[in-house]
Order: sequence, then structure tokens, then C-alpha cells
Amino acid sequence: MDSGTNPHIEDPSSLRKRTRFNLKCSSAEGSCQFNHTVESSGDMMERYASWGLATVEAIQLPSTPAVVTADYRASSRGCAGMFVGNSPAILKVCRAIERVAPANVSVVLTGESGCGKEVMARALHAASTRSRQRFVAINCAAIPETLLESELFGYERGAFTGAVKQTVGKIEHAHRGTLFLDEIGDLPLSLQAKLLRFLQERVVERLGGRKEIEVDVRVVCATHRDLHKLLQEGSFREDLYYRLAEISVHIPPLRDRVGDAVLMARHFLAQYSGTQNRPIKGFSTAALSALDAYSWPGNVRELQNRVKRAVIMADGQQIGPEDLDLTPAPDQPPELDLRLCRELVERTVLQRALARADGNLSLAARMIGVSRPTLYDLLRQHGMRT
Ligand SMILES: Nc1ncnc2c1ncn2[C@@H]1O[C@H](COP(=O)(O)OP(=O)(O)OP(=O)(O)O)[C@@H](O)[C@H]1O
Ligand SMILES: [Mg+2]
Repeated sequence: MDSGTNPHIEDPSSLRKRTRFNLKCSSAEGSCQFNHTVESSGDMMERYASWGLATVEAIQLPSTPAVVTADYRASSRGCAGMFVGNSPAILKVCRAIERVAPANVSVVLTGESGCGKEVMARALHAASTRSRQRFVAINCAAIPETLLESELFGYERGAFTGAVKQTVGKIEHAHRGTLFLDEIGDLPLSLQAKLLRFLQERVVERLGGRKEIEVDVRVVCATHRDLHKLLQEGSFREDLYYRLAEISVHIPPLRDRVGDAVLMARHFLAQYSGTQNRPIKGFSTAALSALDAYSWPGNVRELQNRVKRAVIMADGQQIGPEDLDLTPAPDQPPELDLRLCRELVERTVLQRALARADGNLSLAARMIGVSRPTLYDLLRQHGMRT
């Protein structure tokens, strides 16, 4: 990690000697604490920085465990994973990933297209004990069945026409590291049997070869398809599923990550205005409302594309909803109007209390902790009593 990527660390080499510390990740929505014993806290911070979840803000030590405060929001800067997010929904996923990362279990990541499954798989690898080894990814949907087998298992010279030299497959290549099988739901049945055999025996045989080669990999898979449905249809083997999905983590779609669209849009704006050399200052208020209100069927990838296009095409120094090709949202979205929200909550509480008290106003007033005259006033205000 270079100190330039993290404004809070001036001399990372000075942190190398410490051996045990706590990492506390906090955000407006909450915080979580990780305890680690590592070779050096420098390693740990590199790992978190590459994972993209930690910007180190405060460090104590060397003799006592340090408390390192990390902010998921700021974490996006200068890291390979480029992880951005601060919603309760995504923080929950982060905690799950953090918990499963050190355990040597296979993980299936599910979620809609473009929601960040590969980003999370890389984060998982970076937070695991295999982080210094390879992360080898293969997209099972993008490669024809015949080629996929040789890609996965490798081949010996002369195994088939065109096999001019011995070639190591992806599984073998990932030895000691992580093998990421993307779009696992699209793996043909014939290869499912072979993959299952590998997972049971932990050995591969290259095509045209006779030697069994021992391979130690952690398998992480991803799919946007409903694996349970594929199991029922018979297009995915149940025995393979249970080998692959020792732990399953669902990544929520962007529309369910409250506030993340704006956070990410700002992140991508900063990124693209730099790479595209366009001096865009920010988003207009209308653009921010539109970003919040849109349902993002294409998830983070769609957001990324819209911001990129807006940075290139915008006329002014500020991006408006039209630059993002989004319809302007109402000036004040109802969920941000405190008065409306209060009214709604009050009305709901009154209705529930009256129902539970079976119309007995004294009892209803006691239930919601107000006096009887106050309850009368409230009922009148909400038009529930004349
Ligand atoms: N939390 C995030 N922070 C920053 N960028 C993200 C985040 N999640 C996803 N991205 C970016 O969005 C794009 C799509 O992410 P990714 O490829 O991980 O999605 P996916 O779920 O694997 O999609 P698909 O199902 O289409 O393969 C990538 O360019 C990735 O860098
Ligand atoms: Mg993917």
C-alpha cells in the first residue's frame, strides 16, 4: 500500500512490527469489530485497503492492541476492489463476508446482474488467509462447453487437435489461492460431474493426461440465477450445490441499499472526471433526487455507465438528471419529508392503539403514553374524531 493512496497513513513501514490488533469498522448506521492476529498490522492494512473496506483513521499500539477505525464510505479510495457502500443492507453483507473470509469454506454469492458479486468475491479473497496467492476467475457462461473443460482442467500436449503444448488449467493455476467460478448456474451438466469429482478428491487430471495432480483451492462461485429453481428443474446437481454452497451470501440489489446510489455516483464522478479529464463539479440537487428515486434494474453497472456517459456529455459543470437520462424526481421525496413521516407514524400508532384497546380511549391513551385530552387532540388533528 502506498501512503499516497491513504491520507491517514504517513509511513506504513512504521507499522510493520505490530502483531495483534483490533479493527473497528464504523459508519453512520453502525459499526462492527474484527479481531485479528496477523504477521504485521501493515499486512492487515494492506489487505483491508486492497479489499477496499478500510480507511485507517486512528492507530494505537505497539504494546497494546490498537483500535483502528475504518469508514466504509471513505474506503473506496485508492483500492483495487473499489468497494463503495454504506447502507445497512450492504454493511450486513460486509460483515458476513468478513466472517466467512478466514474460514476455509466454499461460498456462493447470489444477486442480480451488476450488483457487485465479483467485487465481493475479490473482497473475500483479499480478507482471507489466501490473499497473497492468486485469485483466478473464470466465467462459466462465456466459454463454450468444449473449451471450458480444457480451460478448467488444462491439457497435455497432443490431447486434441491444436493442443500444441502442455497447458495448466484454471483450477491448477489457482493452487493455494481462490478459484472464482462466475455464472456457476450456467455450468453444463457434464462439467458439473467433473467439478464435483474434483471437489471430492481435490485432484485434477489434465485432458490427455494420466497423472492426478493435487490442488488446494478455495472455491467461490457467483450466479444471478435462482439455483434452487435450477435444482428443482434438474439442470443443476444437488450434490454439487451442497459442495459449493457451504455458505451462501446474497448481495442485495442497489434499489434496496438506501443512500448507496448517491454515494457511488459521487465516487464514479470523481473517478471519471479524472480519467476523462472533464472538470465536472458535482450533481445538481435534482440529479441527486433522481439518483435516489430510480430503481436501478442494471444495478451498479448501470449506475457506473450512466455517470460515465454524463461526465463525457454534460454541457455545464454540474450534472443534471437529463445528463443521466433520468426523469427528475419530485422536489422533496416523501420519505425525506419529516412532517409527512411523523404524520404517517402518528396515524398508524393511533389506529393500532384504538384497535387493540377495542375503542376504549383511556386504555389507548395509556398504551401510547399520552393523557386522555392529548389523545383527543391527536385524533381530531388526524380527522379520526370530530
Ligand atoms: N460496491 C461497489 N463499489 C464500487 N463499484 C462497484 C461496487 N459493486 C459493483 N461495482 C462495480 O460495478 C460493476 C459490476 O460489478 P460486478 O462485476 O462485481 O457485478 P456482478 O454482480 O458480478 O455482475 P454480473 O452478474 O453481471 O456478472 C463493476 O465495474 C464493479 O467494479
Ligand atoms: Mg460477475
